Parts: sequence; C-alpha cells; structure tokens
Amino acid sequence: MSVITTHRDGDVLVVVSNNPPVNALGFAVRDGLAKALDEAAADPAVKAVVIRCDGRTFFAGADITEFGGPMKDPQLPELLERLEALDKPVVAAIHGTALGGGLETALACHYRIAVPSAKLGLPEVKLGILPGAGGTQRLPRVVGVAAALEMIVGGAPIGAKKASDIGLLDRLAGEDSLAAEAVAFARDIAEKRPLPRTSEKQAVAEPGVFDAFRAANARKMKGFEAPEACIQAIQAAAELPFAQGLEVERKLIRQLMASDQSKAQRHIFFAERAAAKIDGLAPGTPLIPVKSVGIIGAGTMGGGIAMNFLSIGIPVTILEMQQEALDRGVATIGRNYAGNVKSGRMTEDQAKQATGLLKPTLDYADLGQVDLVIEAVFENMDVKKEVFTRLDKIAKPGAILATNTSYLDVDEIAAVTSRPESVVGLHFFSPANVMKLLEVVRGAKTSDSVLATAMALAKQIRKIAVVAGVCHGFIGNRMLKPRQDQAGQLILEGAKPADVDRVFLDFGFPMGPFQLADLAGLDIGWHRDPTRRESVRDALCAEGRLGQKTGGGFYDYDEKRNRTPSPVAERIIAEFAAAKGIAQRAISDEEIRERCLYTMVNEGAKILEEGKAQRASDIDVVWVFGYGWPVYRGGPMFWADLVGARTIVDGLKRQQDRLGPDFTLSPLLVAKAEKGETFN
Ligand code: 3HC
Ligand code: NAI
Repeated sequence: MSVITTHRDGDVLVVVSNNPPVNALGFAVRDGLAKALDEAAADPAVKAVVIRCDGRTFFAGADITEFGGPMKDPQLPELLERLEALDKPVVAAIHGTALGGGLETALACHYRIAVPSAKLGLPEVKLGILPGAGGTQRLPRVVGVAAALEMIVGGAPIGAKKASDIGLLDRLAGEDSLAAEAVAFARDIAEKRPLPRTSEKQAVAEPGVFDAFRAANARKMKGFEAPEACIQAIQAAAELPFAQGLEVERKLIRQLMASDQSKAQRHIFFAERAAAKIDGLAPGTPLIPVKSVGIIGAGTMGGGIAMNFLSIGIPVTILEMQQEALDRGVATIGRNYAGNVKSGRMTEDQAKQATGLLKPTLDYADLGQVDLVIEAVFENMDVKKEVFTRLDKIAKPGAILATNTSYLDVDEIAAVTSRPESVVGLHFFSPANVMKLLEVVRGAKTSDSVLATAMALAKQIRKIAVVAGVCHGFIGNRMLKPRQDQAGQLILEGAKPADVDRVFLDFGFPMGPFQLADLAGLDIGWHRDPTRRESVRDALCAEGRLGQKTGGGFYDYDEKRNRTPSPVAERIIAEFAAAKGIAQRAISDEEIRERCLYTMVNEGAKILEEGKAQRASDIDVVWVFGYGWPVYRGGPMFWADLVGARTIVDGLKRQQDRLGPDFTLSPLLVAKAEKGETFN
C-alpha cells in the first residue's frame, strides 16, 4: 500500500501519511504528497485539504538516511512551493513531533492545528545543517525574527501551547479529536480568501537583533558552522524578497550538507540510536521489572544516581555505614533539588514528590526487597567485595546487582556472589544527575535479561547507554589514560600547560586536561606527604597548589577564577623535570595533537579488536556524551576516519620513541591503514 493515501470527507480531501516509524519525508512520501496535491487541484468538488499522519507522529523531518546521496524528485522545497501555491486552503493537522522538514511542510500549509501534546521544532542545526525547505524563510515570517532565531539556531522544539502563543499555530484541538477537528476547521475556512500564504508575509527585524543574538550565544555556537549559517539565512528572510531568500538558504544548506561537521553530527545521530542495540541478544529477551532501587554509598555518585530514579517516580533506598555520612548525602540531594526548583528545571511540587520517595537507611535488611541495587562506595576492590558479599545474602532472588566502579574488574566483583548472572556494571558519570552517558558493563556471566533491562532502564532515566566489556577503565576512562599520560609527559618535556590546553580548546573540547585537573582539585588521590614528590601533581600539592580552590594549581587564578599562566607552577614543573633528567625543548602543537589524540584512537582500536566495544560508533558516543569531545568532530573513531588511519599510524610511528615503554600500535589500526579502510 502507498504510504500516502487520500479520502474524501465531504468537500474536504484528507491526505494521510503512514510511513513508520516517524513519517520521515522520504521519496515515497514526497511523491505521494505531490500526487495528492494534483488530486486536490484537479477535483472541483474538493474545497479544502487536510494533511495528517498516522502512527506516533506528524512528519519528523526529511529522511536523514537519504542525505549524502542524490535525492529523487520531487524535492521537498519544490513540493512545498507547490503546496503553498495551491488555490485551495490546506490545513496541517499535527500530533507527536513536527520537526525539520515536517514543520516546514506545516509552514507551507495555509493553516496549522495541533493537539496540546504536540512539539514543533527545526532541529536541523543539531545535524550541522539548516532548514533547507524554506524553513528559514517561512518561520520568521510567521513568528517574527527573534522567535525564529531561538528556534532555528537553538534547535530545541517548543510545545503546542507556546507555538500557539507565538502565532505558529492557528488552533489547538482536543488530544483525541484532531482528525475530526481538522476537517471541521478546514470546512470553516474553505471559502476564505485571500489564502494566508506565508511567503507573502514580511519578516521584520529589529535593528541590531542579529548581532545581539550572535553576542549572546557566542559561547554556545563556538566552533560550529551551522548556527552562523542559520543566522545568515534568517537575515536574508528579513532583508530580501522571499525568492531571493530561498536562494540564500539553498546555497547555505548545500555548503553545510557537504561539510565534515554535518557528516559528523549526522553520524552521532545514528550512532546514538545504534548504541541502544545489543549484539547477540535473543529477540524478546524478557525485561526485569524495576519498581524500586537501592543505592549503597551516598557520596558524590550515589546521591546523583539516586536523583535519576527519584525524578521519574521510582523510590530509592539509600544506605551508608554511618549516620553522619547518610545525613550529609541526603542533605546534598535536597540541596540539588532545591537548585533545580530555583533554576526553573522543576516545580516545587515535583521536587517534593521526588525527595518524598527517598528512604535513607543504615540497615542492609532494607535492601532485601528492591529490584535493583547500585553500589557506589569507595573505589577499592576489598570494600566492593565486602559490599557484594553482604548484598548477596540479603538481596531477593532475581534482583539486579550493579556496581558503579570506574575501573575495577566487574567479573571479580561478581565472583564473590552466588549469582554472577545478576551482576552488571552501571558506570554513571559525574554529576550523575546531569551527565547523559551511562556505560553498561557486561560481565562474562551477566545474563541477557539483566543487560537488556539495564539498557531499557537507561532510556527511562533519559541516559544514553553504551555497552562496554570488562577491562581497566572500560571504554571512556581506558582511552582517557594515554591522553592524560601524554599531556603529563609533554609538560615535562617543555610544553606549557597552557599550550596543551590550547590545542584541546582549539580542537573544540570545553576544557583542556590541566584546566580540568585544576577544577577537579589536584589533591584527588594525593597521599598528603609533602616530602613524597612522585609526580608534578605531588609537587604542586606539596607547595599548597591544590587547584582553583586554593587560587593556584597548574595555573594561577584570581578571585573570579580567571586563569593566567603561572610562573610558580612552571618553575615547579621545570625543577621536577630536571630532577628526572628530562631536557626541556620547544614542542609544536602538531606534536601535542599527535601524542594526545592519536594515542586515544590507538586505544580505541584496541578496545574494538578486543571486543570491549560493540562497534566503533559506540566509542564515539562515549566520548561525545561523556567527555566533551566536540560533536562536530563526530567522536574519536569518526574523526580518525576523516584524518585517515594511514596518517594516524604515521604520526604515531613518528612519535613512537616519546610515547613511553608501554605504548604499542594497535594491529587493527595498522590493518585499517594498510587497507585504506575506515572504522565507521
Ligand atoms: N530520518 C530517518 N530516520 C529517522 C529520522 C529521520 N528524520 N528520525 C528518526 N529516524 C529513525 C531513527 O533512526 C530510529 O531508527 P531505528 O529504530 O532503526 O534506530 C527510528 O526512526 C526511531 O527514532 P528514535 O529512536 O529517535 O525514536 P523516538 O521516539 O525516541 O524519537 C524523534 C522520535 C523525536 C522524531 C527523533 O527520532 C528525532 O529527533 N528525529 C530526528 C528529527 C530531525 O532531526 N528532523 C530533521 C531532519 S533534517 C530535515 O528535515 C532537513 C530539511 O530541512 C530539509
Ligand atoms: P565518595 O567518596 O564521594 O562516596 C563514597 C561513599 O560511599 C561515601 O559516602 C562513603 O561513606 C560510602 N561508603 C564507603 N564504604 C561503604 C560501605 N561499605 N557501605 C556503605 N557506604 C559506604 O565517592 P564517589 O566519587 O561517589 O565514588 C563512588 C564510586 O563511583 C567509586 O567506585 C568511583 O570510582 C565511582 N565513580 C566516581 C566518579 C566520580 O567522578 N566521582 C565517576 C564515576 C564513577
């Protein structure tokens, strides 16, 4: 059956799309819509048209899988011009999400009606492009330049209520009566002339609005190409006639579509979805219902992890050994919720509801009936083993036993229990209530049900989960190590901390390794003995330089925490290097990049060849959502594909003598270089 069908409801032609899962505007949909327009134009008995979608959503955009190749006619921009030019009114009836080309279709319609739960947006900027089917020209003409800038450059969808307030919708329908109300509405306006054609309206810009927007959003837009292109297209809408504005839009989208940034961002869109899929899992693997959660350890991680569940209405019992630690942990959770209320992220009632679901305890017996326990105690194998031994005794059969360990061997932890099949790693990132990434660590004996449940639960708490195998540091922290080692070594050899950080900032990371270290505090893991100076960090700590909190670490900081290079830190580093017999020399940015970034790719390739990640794109997801890898560079493995495995191997060979005795080239990386293959 065709994905587009039409039927008559009196004198209204109803056009229905049924193209699961999201009614993307692929060729078949465009072709069907074009034929429906012909039908509407040709039949004098048709007085008005309604376009709506079956299934879970109105058109959620162009079909992204068609990008990158030639697109078959009819193209969406031309189709929408024909739609708008029809001399009979067309009503878009919107439910679910009208996104990208979907909202552009609605904008080309003469009227728009939606259910209150609908969301409308132009998220193209997140794919490194801009709305290329007239969206940059039509939206500002409907909602004004300021609101269009927010929606197109920001990319976040808005709710139907807001859309209605800013004039994007003509009418709201009842949640369950959209189809009927849309037809009734179409009948009401069938004879109204002139037809409200968006392209005939004016987009008026306040003087200075574009530069003010650029200035206000400079930080968010830094490094990205698409936001500036979006602004220029909207500027064209305000300054040029519609047809010329469209030409500007078309030229800009053509450039963006061919850019590496857009390829990278599209890659991440699909990578994020691929990550949810578990290799080798039997279809229909039963999920374990998780209606209550226990957490052991109410420290930095335990508290943040608890909030994920409390916020979606799942009760949490949180356990500590000492009342004082328990009180402290509970107080922090309360403070974080108060902060959420203050910043408008949730209402007071919602915060109250969440904190009301928290049960603090000192007694393991209180964890006896929960469906999932997450351990977040100190990172120490003996402590973890003791906790899991106790847990094994009291947890109900079938309960999932998870560890939040950053590095430790999940199989060794599982082995102290009588049920290693119930044990899994759930590696959250700090702050655990904010960070999107979750590494789900599949132990040698973890059951399919436990794994599948962990992945499903991640989605429920709105995390992006990636399956990792057991190895030291899993995917993310394992790849962080060579980068940190090289950064530390580079400053001993003569690079300044600011040189290394600058290379990372220029690449697009929000922070360099030394900025990050100063922010986190150099005393993490410090043995507090000023005479022991085994690392530069020890030496800095020994002189009271613990990072931002003490006004100095690798950098000096003023009261506002602005950083400047520190002559004192540089002296300490130089003395440390001299004591180790390391000569200082000038170091190029190229060498910093090769030693810090190419070594990460090499480690990523090892993770793949050992089967510790299911696919290269999973590694990209980990780095983009957990470690600030710029999304427009698509993650380390996608970036490696752009740079070329050959170039990376050559670079690593050039640096081989400086990479330390533990460095070895990944055979997989070498093979890719030799065959000219990519990872993704
Ligand atoms: N094209 C092709 N496939 C798409 C797609 C699209 N626009 N949107 C979603 N899909 C696919 C997903 O890849 C996924 O496939 P899978 O099941 O094989 O993994 C499936 O549809 C379901 O998607 P989600 O898992 O994301 O489902 P959710 O219910 O969580 O979310 C959604 C639905 C909010 C619509 C979300 O999929 C989404 O944000 N989609 C992208 C929307 C978008 O960016 N639209 C703009 C496209 S660019 C454009 O329109 C250009 C124009 O200006 C010319
Ligand atoms: P933390 O020191 O802030 O909290 C640990 C808490 O566990 C403390 O409150 C302590 O009193 C409690 N505790 C210790 N032994 C216990 C026991 N036997 N029973 C009950 N409670 C006990 O540590 P943090 O940072 O929360 O780390 C916890 C775990 O999470 C570690 O395994 C760590 O590697 C991991 N992790 C930490 C991240 C971070 O950025 N801090 C990120 C990801 C994982």
